[in-house]
Amino acid sequence: DCMTSQKLVKLPGLIDVHVHVREPGATHKEDFSSCTAAALAGGVTMILCMPNTSPPTTDQASLALTQKLARLNARCDYGLYVGAGTENADLLPPLGNSAIAMKMYLNQTFGPLRLDDITQWMQHFEKWPKHLPIVCHAEGQTMAAAILMAEFYKRSIHIAHVAKREEIIVIRQAKDRGMQVTCEVAPHHLFLTQDDLEAIGHARAQVKPPIQTKEDQDALWENMDIIDCFATDHAPHSVEEKEGPKPPPGYPGLETMLPLLLTAVSDGRITMEDLIAKLYTNPRRIFNLPEQKDTYIEVDMDSEWTIPKYMKFTKSKWTPFAGMKVRGAIRRVVMRGEVAYVDGQVLVPPGFGQDVRSEADAVVFAKPTAPAPKPVPVPVPHIAGGEPAPPT
Ligand code: NCD
Ligand code: ZN
Ligand code: ZN
Repeated sequence: DCMTSQKLVKLPGLIDVHVHVREPGATHKEDFSSCTAAALAGGVTMILCMPNTSPPTTDQASLALTQKLARLNARCDYGLYVGAGTENADLLPPLGNSAIAMKMYLNQTFGPLRLDDITQWMQHFEKWPKHLPIVCHAEGQTMAAAILMAEFYKRSIHIAHVAKREEIIVIRQAKDRGMQVTCEVAPHHLFLTQDDLEAIGHARAQVKPPIQTKEDQDALWENMDIIDCFATDHAPHSVEEKEGPKPPPGYPGLETMLPLLLTAVSDGRITMEDLIAKLYTNPRRIFNLPEQKDTYIEVDMDSEWTIPKYMKFTKSKWTPFAGMKVRGAIRRVVMRGEVAYVDGQVLVPPGFGQDVRSEADAVVFAKPTAPAPKPVPVPVPHIAGGEPAPPT
């Protein structure tokens, strides 16, 4: 019997704009090699790496260190964020062409970067080059204040991990008024609610922003049309840390995002065009990302499986989605014409990944021009004897 699925679908290599790699400084949690292996296993061929590392990526020396570690160890392509601190508003703009964007932490989170005083925010909004994105961790009312600051300086702002009804409603209103606001939503806020916390365990379930109510979750699905990106906020911590006295916030997510979203496609909750827009077209537009040549993924829409206790490639050996039944699996990932991942095996070595800003001048100002690729069925290999029947 021919086991070949009739539902293999080819998609562009996905882009995750929100990943915590943990290198330098916390490689027991994750490093470039393990993180980018997890990315490829999840159908992600480009990650944008957050700056809350040790040291944080907040100046020329720390950026150079992270660039070097990434160049040696990343298996998929990547871009690096720089982080806004209280003292570096003048230091960051010269690094603009080597970075993907500036990240501002405006609420309490994991790591040393936080700006409390709105006048500190204003310095960064004023000085960071207007053509480069600003991404904000800004929850609730802080988010509304951040959008107001972007409006003061007539510049764009991207809101990370939108989780609440009030947040998505304010973003809709801001967009309706023509403000340059974009946003992303993480899978855990789309697929988990407070009703799941008991089963996950309250210590492990710590995450910023926290898992919200069913009403908040419903509001995200109802406002799917104004969500620009899906992004994992892959935030790996060790199981020991998550079970310890002060559990750090964050979930691993790279290997589970696409199966969860393909399940939503199967269930008719989103379309495949939505998925491609939010994991490819919009990330490229918002972050001015180059095309990845000869890069695509193949997913099996019919494969049904249950998410296990932990995923294979991340060092973070747990997942909040354990036990969830999903439909859809990543079969193959091709990058630059090379098979980077196939059926559970990562085939490209550390160092295969490239910094998408390494030829900074060439790509920073380049607007992606290619139209959104349509999902196309992959021709099913003919197994036994003779030519496939001609179309009738
Ligand atoms: C992130 C981390 O661990 O770096 N944690 C989290 O809960 N999301 C930090 C962040 O994204 O705010
Ligand atoms: Zn955050
Ligand atoms: Zn994050």
